[in-house]
Amino acid sequence: MRDKMSDRRKIIIDTDPGQDDAAAIFLAFGSPQEVDLLGITTVAGNVPLSLTSRNALILCELCNRPDVKVFAGCDRPLSRPLVTAEHVHGKTGLDGPTLAEPTLKLQPQHSVDFIIETLRNEPSGTVTLCTLGPLTNIATAFTRAPDIISRVREIVSMGGGFSEGGNITPAAEFNIYVDPEAAKIVFGAGVPMVLMPLDVTHQLLTRKDRVARMRAIGTAPAIAMVEMLEFFERFDIEKYGSDGGPLHDPTVVAYLVKPSLFDGRLCNVEIETASELTAGMTVIDWWHVTDRKRNVKVMRSVDADGFFDLLIERFARI
Ligand code: RIB
Ligand code: CA
Repeated sequence: MRDKMSDRRKIIIDTDPGQDDAAAIFLAFGSPQEVDLLGITTVAGNVPLSLTSRNALILCELCNRPDVKVFAGCDRPLSRPLVTAEHVHGKTGLDGPTLAEPTLKLQPQHSVDFIIETLRNEPSGTVTLCTLGPLTNIATAFTRAPDIISRVREIVSMGGGFSEGGNITPAAEFNIYVDPEAAKIVFGAGVPMVLMPLDVTHQLLTRKDRVARMRAIGTAPAIAMVEMLEFFERFDIEKYGSDGGPLHDPTVVAYLVKPSLFDGRLCNVEIETASELTAGMTVIDWWHVTDRKRNVKVMRSVDADGFFDLLIERFARI
């Protein structure tokens, strides 16, 4: 039974695949009644842009979705050198399964131009931006075309951390750390925003029983996903000694499909850009100790079993 809150959302997925990005994209593919995927825009992040773009095409091909348009975007942060995460995702960004090179092709249009054009052409207030990587594309679009900002329905973003701290530095989560200046622009733009920080995603571990249920689906996408996750989780198991790795990015799509899985509160969130020690930190005023604008709905709790039940049920539909 669908949540009364959920309705069919027009979405753009902005992403840096990334095994967990793949899980988010698969969830979107398995939820056509809830999301209308207008396009996938890629950004440099986990691995360089050429690979995140290649990977997005591979995922579409793996799930037999040649209809989905993929647009390559910004190949570096607004003003900092690119930091990547091959130590987590492997050299290709989708290490784990053996994946053929894609035969699908990228769209000729740049991601930023696609985002601007889509927001100008779709009725105002109908398009949701789902961000799974650094916010460079979104910030560039907002800077180049400020008129689109008020036309965005909502931004649902994986990034940041509160009591969980950071995962790339003690203070910062990777997506925000890679391009703090872009995050500052997006968090400060005034668009209704929902944030899935590490405080939520670290509750969503790819435990063996959950991965076994995914494997039992038996389809090519499901088996490939299992092999991706079994590669992806090794880093976090070594680092945190956890039973599996945290599945970050599918929280963004799960929120649109079943919002009742999550709970949080509207807070002020500011992004640190000046200090090198804490660059990329999301300063979350959870206890409302300041009078700064409450600009972001920050999620902090999630029904982990319900999340994986949804994921596995929707993966089986691909
Ligand atoms: O910190 C986790 C985030 O960084 C996820 O989006 C992961 O894919 C990486 O991009
Ligand atoms: Ca990502």
